[in-house]
Amino acid sequence: MTDSSVMPEAPNPYTAAADRAAADPERFWLQAAELIEWTTPPTRALDDSRAPIYRWFPDGELNVCHNALDRHVAAGRGDDTALVYDSPVTDTVRRFTFAELLDEVSRFAQALADQGVGKGDRVVIYLPMIPQAVVAMLACARLGAIHSVVFGGFSAHELAVRIDDTAPKAVISTSCGIERSRVIEYKPLLDSALDLAREQPDFTVIVQREQHRCELIAGRDFDYEELLAATPDGAPCTPVAATDELYVLYTSGTTGRPKGIVRDAGGCAVALAWSMPNLFDLRPGDTMFTASDVGWVVGHSYIVYGPLLAGVTTVLYEGKPIGTPDASAFFRVVEDHQVNVFFGAPTAMRVIRKEDPEGRLIGKHDLSSLRAWFQAGERLDPDTYEWTTRVLRQATGDDIPVIDNWWQTETGWPIASNPIGLQRYPLKPGSPTLPVPGYQVDVVDAAGRAVPPNEDGLIVIRLPLPPGTMSTIWGDDDRFVSSYLSAYEGCYLTGDSGHLDEDGYVYVMGRTDDVINVAGHRLSTGVMEAAIASHPAVAESAVIGVHDETKGQMPRAFAVLKDIPDLDVEQVKSELVAKVRSEIGPVAALRRVDIVDALPKTRSGKILRKTMREIADGQTDVVVPSTIEDPEVLERLRPALEG
Ligand code: COA
Ligand code: AMP
Repeated sequence: MTDSSVMPEAPNPYTAAADRAAADPERFWLQAAELIEWTTPPTRALDDSRAPIYRWFPDGELNVCHNALDRHVAAGRGDDTALVYDSPVTDTVRRFTFAELLDEVSRFAQALADQGVGKGDRVVIYLPMIPQAVVAMLACARLGAIHSVVFGGFSAHELAVRIDDTAPKAVISTSCGIERSRVIEYKPLLDSALDLAREQPDFTVIVQREQHRCELIAGRDFDYEELLAATPDGAPCTPVAATDELYVLYTSGTTGRPKGIVRDAGGCAVALAWSMPNLFDLRPGDTMFTASDVGWVVGHSYIVYGPLLAGVTTVLYEGKPIGTPDASAFFRVVEDHQVNVFFGAPTAMRVIRKEDPEGRLIGKHDLSSLRAWFQAGERLDPDTYEWTTRVLRQATGDDIPVIDNWWQTETGWPIASNPIGLQRYPLKPGSPTLPVPGYQVDVVDAAGRAVPPNEDGLIVIRLPLPPGTMSTIWGDDDRFVSSYLSAYEGCYLTGDSGHLDEDGYVYVMGRTDDVINVAGHRLSTGVMEAAIASHPAVAESAVIGVHDETKGQMPRAFAVLKDIPDLDVEQVKSELVAKVRSEIGPVAALRRVDIVDALPKTRSGKILRKTMREIADGQTDVVVPSTIEDPEVLERLRPALEG
């Protein structure tokens, strides 16, 4: 079911914007900066004095929270809805107007300030999808403090790693989260993270939830509600330099050490404010429902900052696509809150499809408010695209565009999308359409030479990246340059492979490193290998991501055990699964470990993970490298890989 709309003629608003952003980024982005209220408006857009590290709006000053809340209240929109908290797992729906959200955010900011949090201090936020997560993020932004949100599905160990890296003044957490009907206690996870961490915050703030209350440690843990009740007056906004850090968000890299992606305040505000009307076709008064999590970049950009900066109502959904209570959950939310634009992950559509293949439950809802259905986090495979398009047409009688958009934690906003606010382009299944204005996407071979259309290669983006993309890795400019900016001169290496077609459409086919994508969660096989390797019975191991119908990819581990007498192999296997879960978190979802006698390697000792992955994925044209040390090892492994 290919979109039958006709390719628009150039020039059109999209080509005009893309051309202007490429030819004169200075003027283009200074003009976009007018979407933001500055305490000191920038007179320059790009600072290239430290290239290849670029900075945007070097002489501008602003406060991001002011732009997300105060300015809308000042403009007379105080009674409009800013946030709808919809939580089927607690049977709650609560609306916050801009004025109400501003009141809670500014008072919580003052409470943090009273405990010593100020500009430049780090605050770790370890919270589920509850309004206090949004409040905490905005309160930090109000003070010029730098938040670092850690996804709830990560373990105490991963939380400790992030606490050690950012050395926060405070940690904000809760008594519990709710996963479907399961209550997950957060406080014991936080306590053990703090036991593990070298760096200790001055204090924590705990949101006590009625589903489970926890013990607080006197003098260290403060109760969120009590702090708020004791703080009648709100904090003012602290202006920060556009180049100051708004947040650090950790993401999986190729090594065991997660990367703290730094987003600057000015670039982030301008890029997200620009993206809302131009990419998502959303304006003040509209409603956006992003079914992600505040712990991921999609949540930062399109649950919290993007909608609020643009004066758009955002829906914060504490639930799942299925099981809360059924496969129509997203569509119920669309109807109940008159959602105009939905944004979620393809994996969620695949689980909905499994439960409701004909879209019967979907059809029970009035989706007449819906204008577009955005998908990201992983490739939108053509099958899921076609099914989603079909059930939406069946339910609405309309052609709701199902729009794949490609980006990364590093970029903070889409690299490629169908720019429907500027110009709607025909959709091609399997492609996130065209590069977003500001991004100059190229595909190169290993030697850095441009490849012809339709030929796969490494996807790079010409420098400078637009505003809103990462400004560095927290505390490590050298790592930023060596990981992303030095492979090909003048280019940012995305780590994704793919091609451009003859119309310039982008196709993203997969990662070139050991990052895998499980149910829309970005994970590192390297980190899983490290967890497995630290088991005393393991001699060596390899973890690969293999194709999975529903979750996109699933990790599989292969371990060679030490020669230990009377070893209970089954026991070791379950210990390895448990170890990955406890060290990385439940989202790592490693379910299968195979014990093997050896791993296939090259003569120089490199494990042939790519070959293993290709065989496990059932590829028919697997080329075994001629540098393989012992082809027999691979043959012995083949049945396990194929099984
Ligand atoms: N806190 C604690 N545990 C969490 C968690 C959280 N925030 N998120 C997930 N987990 C747990 C799950 O409960 C599950 O535990 P289990 O092994 O005990 O069952 C485990 O982590 C694996 O979770 P997941 O891979 O998410 O599987 P699932 O079956 O629970 O859910 C989906 C499957 C598709 C519904 C879910 O993964 C999903 O909605 N994915 C979309 C992700 C997304 O939005 N990404 C952002 C890109 S837009
Ligand atoms: P994250 O940093 O968690 O957003 O994950 C980013 C990675 O997810 C990208 O580098 C891609 O590998 C993958 N990804 C995200 N969105 C898409 C998409 N629309 N198409 C293909 N891959 C995607």
